[in-house]
Amino acid sequence: MILKIVVLIFSFFKLSHSLPLSTNSRWIVDEATSNRVKLTCGNWPSHLEPMIAEGLEKKPLSYIVKEIVSMGFNCVRFTYATYMFTRHGYSNLSVRESLNKFSLNDAKNGFAKNNPEFLDMSVVDVHKSVVDELGKNNVMVILDNHVSKPGWCCNKYDGNGFFGDQFFDPQEWIQGWKTAATRYKGNSNVVAMSMRNELRGPRENENDWYKYMEECATTIHEANSNVLIIFSGLSFDTNLRFLKTRPVTVNIPNKLVYEYHWYSFGEDNTWVTNTNARCAQRTQAAIYNSLFLLTQENPVPLFLSEFGLDLRGGNEKENRYFTCLLATLVELDIDWALWTLQGSYILREGMVELDEVYGTFDFNWDYARNKTTLERLQLPMRLNQDSNFKNSKSFIMFHPHSGKCVNIGEDNNVRGASCDSSGRWSHQGDGSPIMLEGVAGCLQATGEGRPVSVSKDCSTQGSTWKSVSASRLQLASQDKEGYHLCLEYDPMYSTIVTKRCLCIQQDNLSDLSTCDANPQIQWFKFVPTNT
Ligand SMILES: *[C@@H]1O[C@H](CO)[C@@H](O)[C@H](O)[C@H]1NC(C)=O
Ligand SMILES: *[C@@H]1O[C@H](CO)[C@@H](O)[C@H](O)[C@H]1NC(C)=O
Ligand SMILES: *[C@@H]1O[C@H](CO)[C@@H](O)[C@H](O)[C@H]1NC(C)=O
Repeated sequence: MILKIVVLIFSFFKLSHSLPLSTNSRWIVDEATSNRVKLTCGNWPSHLEPMIAEGLEKKPLSYIVKEIVSMGFNCVRFTYATYMFTRHGYSNLSVRESLNKFSLNDAKNGFAKNNPEFLDMSVVDVHKSVVDELGKNNVMVILDNHVSKPGWCCNKYDGNGFFGDQFFDPQEWIQGWKTAATRYKGNSNVVAMSMRNELRGPRENENDWYKYMEECATTIHEANSNVLIIFSGLSFDTNLRFLKTRPVTVNIPNKLVYEYHWYSFGEDNTWVTNTNARCAQRTQAAIYNSLFLLTQENPVPLFLSEFGLDLRGGNEKENRYFTCLLATLVELDIDWALWTLQGSYILREGMVELDEVYGTFDFNWDYARNKTTLERLQLPMRLNQDSNFKNSKSFIMFHPHSGKCVNIGEDNNVRGASCDSSGRWSHQGDGSPIMLEGVAGCLQATGEGRPVSVSKDCSTQGSTWKSVSASRLQLASQDKEGYHLCLEYDPMYSTIVTKRCLCIQQDNLSDLSTCDANPQIQWFKFVPTNT
């Protein structure tokens, strides 16, 4: 009996992440074991006018948290507004009073039905109840200060953008953090604190950034020395370039992380007309603006804390961007938080019960809005590089458009399959064969529209491959006539075939400047892995 209990306790601890976390080079690691802990989070706002976690009016808290876990997330970036901790008139409101303030009667009825015990609790205590419930389910929490004055974020002139803006008093912000950091000291699942979302606007400047961010980091660390402290960049968290010449000097060893947002907002239609070049260009920009932190001489951890797309699938520009982003996300095995979990808002920008088409929950918070997109996050959710990772020659062959990983089936067919059971490939670069480890043979093109085969002869024209197109994500070989063919995933039969290379000039392999086809069905990423 005692043995049984010991075994039970042991298996419980194996399942949960041991906390707290710290950093080692570019990795976030478990402080006790130094093993890497990869953050694969969803965002969950609680910073809009009512200061209440979205969805609690639609479903019981325990249901929402269980669904988050079953969707595969191990962590939530959970937001708050400074005033909730600093101002009377905000901090003292109960959920009922906060909803009354905006005449949100339907939401009040929803609370009465789904989470009745919260109605007469303060918004501050309900925030904590959400964190507690996430903790009970082994979900890590990254506390994120999203705005000062509760409300939708972000534009340059909303008074919440930068230190000194109308609602953004730096000392009040730091005071709010002191309260929040102290309040969550007892919650071991609160692993990190993200100091401020999307700094922006006419006041933004680097000197104030260093001054206030470092002061705030020190305050958080003094109040709660366990948590990681996350620094977000300028220009809506798209710019961390200034760290190249002036690193953060605050002396908090092994606790500092940086964060970055990557969307396609405001970008033009070249995502659709010239997808390869656009992807190459946006990836280079991401490296230049932030991802360099992961690969520079003294790397530091970087958390991609917002990215996302309209999950209805109708925005082709966003679809292409998202597929492009996934390739980089897995290549560098980045820690991330998807925008977003919530399927709807109680109140956003004056609109009551607004649908969130980027939300993994559907409008009623019943189910996943789009299972296919969640499946594409299967590989990004996996830990593919541990903290010993240097440079692996062993790859997972990922098809970001479908989220499948390439494998050779028992029938010797080359397939797109679940990334859970995917094999390891080797490929030494342009002009070399592609081989599945443990299988004699290599991929061979057998003709236009035909399934790629596994051949014993790995030196012929059809069995050597090189990356083509600006994105370098299409893999081409030549048939007997010297005609170039690219690998392509055929979702109908889940097989890998070879087809004419899309959006490429056949004779000199240069990119077509505009192209009607979507070359992403031919994109494959070799994801280096040591796990
Ligand atoms: C909260 O504080 C405001 C401002 O001080 C006050 O007017 C209001 O009555 C308080 N509400 C509660 C429920 O204490
Ligand atoms: C899910 O997204 C894909 C595009 O990624 C789209 O084709 C599909 O229709 C979407 N499914 C639903 C149920 O919205
Ligand atoms: C490739 O060939 C096309 C015409 O077939 C030509 O317009 C283009 O300039 C060539 N590109 C290069 C890089 O030679």
